[in-house]
Amino acid sequence: MATSSRRQFLKKTTGAAVAFGFPSIIPASVRGQNAPSSKITMAVFGWGMQGPANTNAFLKEQDCRVVAACDLDKNHLQSAVDTVNKSYGNTDCKPYHDYREVMARKDIDAVMIAIPDNWHALVATEAARNGKHIYGEKPLARTIAEQQAIVNAVKKYNVIWQTGSWQRSLPQFRMAAEFVRNGLIGKLDHVVVGLPSGHKDFAGTGNKMQVTTPPPELDYEMWIGPATMEDYIEGRVHKNWRWNYNIGGGQLLDWIGHHCDIAHWGMDMDNSGPVEMKPLSVKFPPRSDAWNTATEYQAESTYANGVKMLLSNDHDDVKMGTKWVGSDGWVWVDRGGFDSSNAELKETLNKRDEKTGKVVQSAKAKVLGDDVIKTKLYNSPGHQRNFLDCVKSGKPTITPVTTAHHSAVPGHLALISLMTNSTVKWDPEKEVINDNEAASKLLSREYRGPWKLEA
Ligand SMILES: NC(=O)c1ccc[n+]([C@@H]2O[C@H](COP(=O)([O-])OP(=O)(O)OC[C@H]3O[C@@H](n4cnc5c(N)ncnc54)[C@H](O)[C@@H]3O)[C@@H](O)[C@H]2O)c1
Repeated sequence: MATSSRRQFLKKTTGAAVAFGFPSIIPASVRGQNAPSSKITMAVFGWGMQGPANTNAFLKEQDCRVVAACDLDKNHLQSAVDTVNKSYGNTDCKPYHDYREVMARKDIDAVMIAIPDNWHALVATEAARNGKHIYGEKPLARTIAEQQAIVNAVKKYNVIWQTGSWQRSLPQFRMAAEFVRNGLIGKLDHVVVGLPSGHKDFAGTGNKMQVTTPPPELDYEMWIGPATMEDYIEGRVHKNWRWNYNIGGGQLLDWIGHHCDIAHWGMDMDNSGPVEMKPLSVKFPPRSDAWNTATEYQAESTYANGVKMLLSNDHDDVKMGTKWVGSDGWVWVDRGGFDSSNAELKETLNKRDEKTGKVVQSAKAKVLGDDVIKTKLYNSPGHQRNFLDCVKSGKPTITPVTTAHHSAVPGHLALISLMTNSTVKWDPEKEVINDNEAASKLLSREYRGPWKLEA
């Protein structure tokens, strides 16, 4: 179908789709079919570490068409456009510098956003306002207030949201959370969320900490966006921005959307959060360092039901991953494996497909069966696939925006409690910090003009 007639066709049918509760722009008459008009047109934002990984997954899906790429670095942008066009064998993918121009395109149905955390809120809310369905990266945003703005915009404009917390789409994480939810370790007592320590030189620029002029290919002024303007230092821009609090949140916030996300899944806390966060210990490099995020950190949260969750960098007693401890035993899961005090569970989840090496739903797991696994968690066919399916059906994804928000809140609260060296009392209903002015101030931060966050 030609673009103009496709647009007219969608225009005529969109109202009907919304009236029946489907936020999708895909008309019901073609939903699920593979007609050209049912392809989801997509724009991708950010071609650094994660953007290409997400985009390559979307390029493999037959019912999706990447038609635009946007980046503030000309070299990254060229690489994005070349990759997409090479994949389709055409020249249809168009390059963009300013995200607002892409969002204004009426023919784009969905966006994939993999840009640094300082930009998440502005780009995601602009996408929602323009009716785009969003595959957005974790953590949801740089501050809790920005996260709330994204949640509000996604709800207000009724768009589908999938978070890049892709561990939920892997069977071992789902099954581990199911074991906990079905009481196989008894009554849950506490959870240990192990996250990385230190800093990692992802860009190989860790020795380039001198102030220089920005390279001509990068629009550094816009890259800083709503954050505080700082001198250009190569070692804290691409990929390594996460080690400076102006743009990112260190290892704690880089990983909270993975292992705390899984912890909450097992705890049945996707729609709630802790009532208290206590700082235990932290090592902050000097604030003036280019890499100034905490290298070691520990904070303990308490939930309304009495369950405690430790958020900690990995060390002797704390392994990376998520460990739930109950009255009858424990379960631990990470990308590299699974372990349990219960021999039967351990055997179940460590079964791997001999060809692919992936953890599979083994015969043993099937034996556990419906009588044991009564509460079944969302089973996704793959994280990007799940997003496209939900854009078509209008159903929630495996990690909708509210889940992303609640998964990241403990990370933000831990950072706030460590930065203020104070216990933070959080109201998960009203989403406010009680009786702690210094901590409350860190729920949001000032935007550098002209950038303004509107819900
Ligand atoms: N889900 C995962 O496993 C996973 C893994 C890595 C990163 N991430 C997340 O992905 C996001 C990006 O991280 P990264 O490591 O890929 O960063 P990166 O620095 O490697 O890449 C970001 C890219 O975005 C571009 N960019 C910056 N601001 C932009 C804007 N306003 N508009 C368009 N492009 C812009 C940059 O020029 C850069 O090319 C972060 O939120 C990060 O937490 C997720």
